[in-house]
Amino acid sequence: MFDGKFFPYRDETLCCEGVSLEKLAGEYGTPLYVTSRNSLVSQYKAFEEAFSDLDHFTCYSVKANFNIHVIRTLAAEGCGCDVNSGGELYRALQAGVSAEKIIMAGVGKTEADIEYALRTGILMLKAESLSELRLINRIAVRSGLRARVGVRVNPNVTAETHPYITTGDSKEKFGIDEADLGEVFSLLKGMESLELTAIDMHIGSQIFDPEFYQAAAEKLLEVLTAARSAGFSIRYFDIGGGFPVTYEPQKPAPSIGHFASVLVPLLEKTGTTIIFEPGRFIAANSTVLLTRVVYRKRNHAGKEFVIVDAGMTELIRPALYQSHHEIVAVGQHGSTMVADVVGPVCESGDFFAKGRSIDAVGEGELLAVLSSGAYSSVMASNYNGRPRPAEVMVDGDRAILIRKRETYEQLVQNEMF
Ligand code: LLP
Repeated sequence: MFDGKFFPYRDETLCCEGVSLEKLAGEYGTPLYVTSRNSLVSQYKAFEEAFSDLDHFTCYSVKANFNIHVIRTLAAEGCGCDVNSGGELYRALQAGVSAEKIIMAGVGKTEADIEYALRTGILMLKAESLSELRLINRIAVRSGLRARVGVRVNPNVTAETHPYITTGDSKEKFGIDEADLGEVFSLLKGMESLELTAIDMHIGSQIFDPEFYQAAAEKLLEVLTAARSAGFSIRYFDIGGGFPVTYEPQKPAPSIGHFASVLVPLLEKTGTTIIFEPGRFIAANSTVLLTRVVYRKRNHAGKEFVIVDAGMTELIRPALYQSHHEIVAVGQHGSTMVADVVGPVCESGDFFAKGRSIDAVGEGELLAVLSSGAYSSVMASNYNGRPRPAEVMVDGDRAILIRKRETYEQLVQNEMF
């Protein structure tokens, strides 16, 4: 849940912890992502607390928010990292995470990604096809390295969520079918440079019902038994990420404790260390996207538009998944209006809200788009020639710039004049 504890109103102005968002917008400009450090830490701790009875290792899925300071904040609490590419691995290492606390997923890892991962000595690569296993083996043999691998299983469970973020059913590209696992095990038997260390799944994101994890984990338990019978000593059972957060107060996510109460009894049976890969659960509600109202206009159909200086280039989730983000005025208002909150990008899909009742803000005022900590800045683009925004992290009364705003020069720096 977006937490008033980390984003309170003080003197009628929205703050991040002890710092006024009005002040930050004045200092760093808008659009601006503002992250509460203590919100990140508190979500991580809540996750750890919920699963404290279980032998487990939590790897924050950095794709949700890969700012080096965000990764570093979590790593300092003991968290590992789940990365999806060489670029994310590089970020995690730059943040100071040790290689043996990093795991790598990805349905299309390239030779370069795999080589880089093996060279750095990460905890494991999670393979998603027979071809990938063969490639990892070739690289390991020629480099004289041993590769720890997990096998990502596609358990064919359709988690109820947005179709673009369900990943565990057989219509999707992810993982290896259960039917192919016999072949995987015999292949692995002949590959001395590979060590099968984990059985893995990730069935989707923003999953509200633990029943889907339960169904998929039960299938994975069968895979675990088969792997053991085939002579592999499996150390990790990785159930991925996907734990939900509340974006809309009317649709509250079940607590993480609820997921733990359903899953721990099942996962305890594995006799392994359980790996979790939460991304959104940790990062989503830690950040607001601050944006300034550029214009207001009302058309002859009676439609009210609030045109702001952020758009789909900074938060694409409403355009891509029709997702809901709460929007509040930074200065407290007594009155509301119904409006479309739209960005400056020349796409009709460039909106944050349609026909939404919001504070009756005027031109020049600030709005905060809430729950913009996961899959927001990381999915930002330069479309329409828009420099990506600055990012600030607040810890108590202190704010630090954790990413500079891009400049026009940076927009063209890789082009050949
Ligand atoms: N592990 C793997 C292998 C993943 O692919 C993902 C997310 C996660 C962990 C973390 O999932 P989380 O705990 O954050 O749900 N852009 C979409 C979400 C895409 C998720 C991709 N994979 C959105 O904005 O909703």
